Amino acid sequence: MLKAAVIGVGSIGQNHARVYREMDGVNLVGISDANAGTAAKIGNRLNIPFYTDVTKMLEEQKPDLLSVCVPTSLHYKVGMEMLERGLHVLMEKPITSTLEQGEELCAKAKEKGLVLAVGHIERFNPAAMELRRRMKEGMVGRVYKIHAQRLSPYPPRIQDAGVVIDLASHDIDLIRYLMNEEVLRVYGETIQTINSDREDMFSGLMRFRGGTVGVLDVNWVTPTKIRRLTVTGSRGMFDCNLLSQELFFYENEVAPSQWDTLSILRGVSEGNVLGIRIQRHEPLAAELNDFVGAVRDGRNPTVSGADGLETLRLALDFVRSGKEVVLVDEVKAAP
Ligand SMILES: NC(=O)c1ccc[n+]([C@@H]2O[C@H](COP(=O)([O-])OP(=O)(O)OC[C@H]3O[C@@H](n4cnc5c(N)ncnc54)[C@H](O)[C@@H]3O)[C@@H](O)[C@H]2O)c1
Repeated sequence: MLKAAVIGVGSIGQNHARVYREMDGVNLVGISDANAGTAAKIGNRLNIPFYTDVTKMLEEQKPDLLSVCVPTSLHYKVGMEMLERGLHVLMEKPITSTLEQGEELCAKAKEKGLVLAVGHIERFNPAAMELRRRMKEGMVGRVYKIHAQRLSPYPPRIQDAGVVIDLASHDIDLIRYLMNEEVLRVYGETIQTINSDREDMFSGLMRFRGGTVGVLDVNWVTPTKIRRLTVTGSRGMFDCNLLSQELFFYENEVAPSQWDTLSILRGVSEGNVLGIRIQRHEPLAAELNDFVGAVRDGRNPTVSGADGLETLRLALDFVRSGKEVVLVDEVKAAP
């Protein structure tokens, strides 16, 4: 039995606690939250010891591993303390607010021989898992473009991160995972509209070494929730709904043959549409199972600290690129 705990049981942390509570081979020994009311509510609901003092929880319950689900600006401080105390850590995404902090966490985990996983949960979405499997099999042929849309209203509780780091990081990580290729360049434009003191709309482009282009459309100003990924290639297009966990394939009827996936596309026409059966599961349960498995077997988690760091690096590059872009002559000449 591995002993688990959760620090921060707000919106996402309470789900980590519920999942650990139900997991075989794991004993949820306690939760801790700076807000006494929140700690008591979740502790009583799950019938487990609850604390406002993390140190007291660690001393009394001695967990082996824990999820850190505090606001992003506190990831580094809380994560570092847990690693220094010898605990395996699942850090909610994004890994930290700055690259330096993320690098330090990764170095500390390595030095101590501990698992540091990052909560980029879409890798565990069953529709995304099936999409990845079929892309690897070559069903879509040569991949030209991956287009992610992640649109929803602004969650006022997020006060310490803009939409690129907080929300687009899900898609940056997922596209990296699907492509498994080096990113050559990125460019992004951000807009700050109504909600916060940070950017809340983001349009981004990323180019992979093999030529594939990633397109990101992410914002907090859409009055409905959309989580969609399309993958266009020589043999057709995948349409993946990450919310409903559905996956469709639109076949290009005149695609190059299966043995000819690198050839130039000679034409496109509408072919069959295939609804792909998905074995649905809760992505968070799969994510925490993977983390616990990594601790138990001494292997790397599916989303390592290094993955979290690379995704943060790209997110920060996206934000910077729009600010540092070279203006075209016409604009420069304008008064
Ligand atoms: N993977 C996902 O899909 C996903 C979804 C939501 C949030 N998140 C991430 O999870 C983190 C938390 O987000 P949230 O939406 O749950 O926020 P939240 O505000 O709902 O919850 C944060 C909780 O942490 C508590 N807290 C604050 N400081 C603390 C401290 N020092 N020690 C213990 N508890 C403390 C707060 O009282 C609160 O209950 C963020 O980094 C966010 O980016 C990830």
